[in-house]
Amino acid sequence: MLTDLHCHLIPGIDDGSKSLEQSLAMARIAVEDGISTTVVTPHHLNGVYDNPADGVREGLRVLKEALFRERISLQLLPGSELHLVPELPGQLNRGEALTIADRGHAVLVELPVHTVPVGAENILDHLIAMGLTPLIAHPERNSELRRTPERLAGWVRMGCLGQVTAQSCTGNFGEPVRDAARTMIRQGSIHVVASDAHRDARRVPRITIARKPIEQWAGKDAARLLIEAFPARLADGELPDPGLLIDVLPTRTRKPWWRKMF
Ligand SMILES: [Fe+2]
Repeated sequence: MLTDLHCHLIPGIDDGSKSLEQSLAMARIAVEDGISTTVVTPHHLNGVYDNPADGVREGLRVLKEALFRERISLQLLPGSELHLVPELPGQLNRGEALTIADRGHAVLVELPVHTVPVGAENILDHLIAMGLTPLIAHPERNSELRRTPERLAGWVRMGCLGQVTAQSCTGNFGEPVRDAARTMIRQGSIHVVASDAHRDARRVPRITIARKPIEQWAGKDAARLLIEAFPARLADGELPDPGLLIDVLPTRTRKPWWRKMF
């Protein structure tokens, strides 16, 4: 049974699901993929969408009722995809923005598509000082971090975690994104695979599509941690132990010459 920590499942409040029917279709796809728990993560503070905690809770209540009526057995938990802006720590302090599963231990934070904002490290530091572990949403899709994955590795050393999007691993967002996903996973900067689903077609809530590529890049044990163990722990209000991941990652990132021959 899998946990999806990043999914735009609440209808009509961001660029995710457009209708209740679409949300139900997405929920059925998730169940089919073996997902038993989904944290709903509408955008918040990204300059286009503002979804404070109360609105997310209300949307979640309506969606839960619909799933119950339709007998779809998918557990839903509250959450948000929070843009990394200076006002974020204050909003979290006042309870206006949601942590992952509303557990108060970790936050899903998003960067702009192309840049890393000035002062990003300061905001991340501030969140960590508040006792919150930032989970960086799809760093492989950020142009600047793709060029400098070492910067992400530095954030992980600070105490952040990384979330890769399943469809990045399969190449759906192009080769550069897939290559960055592989590099970041092999460097131990990624701890969670999530769907970041927006629709019931194309950007769907499937996670298991990432298993094969990750097994090839980093081995079966790493794939199990990223797809199964770590997301479940975070939804339960626990923190994953990054050391477990380092222990199972291949230490050699390049094949020696004699293995390239086969
Ligand atoms: Fe997202």
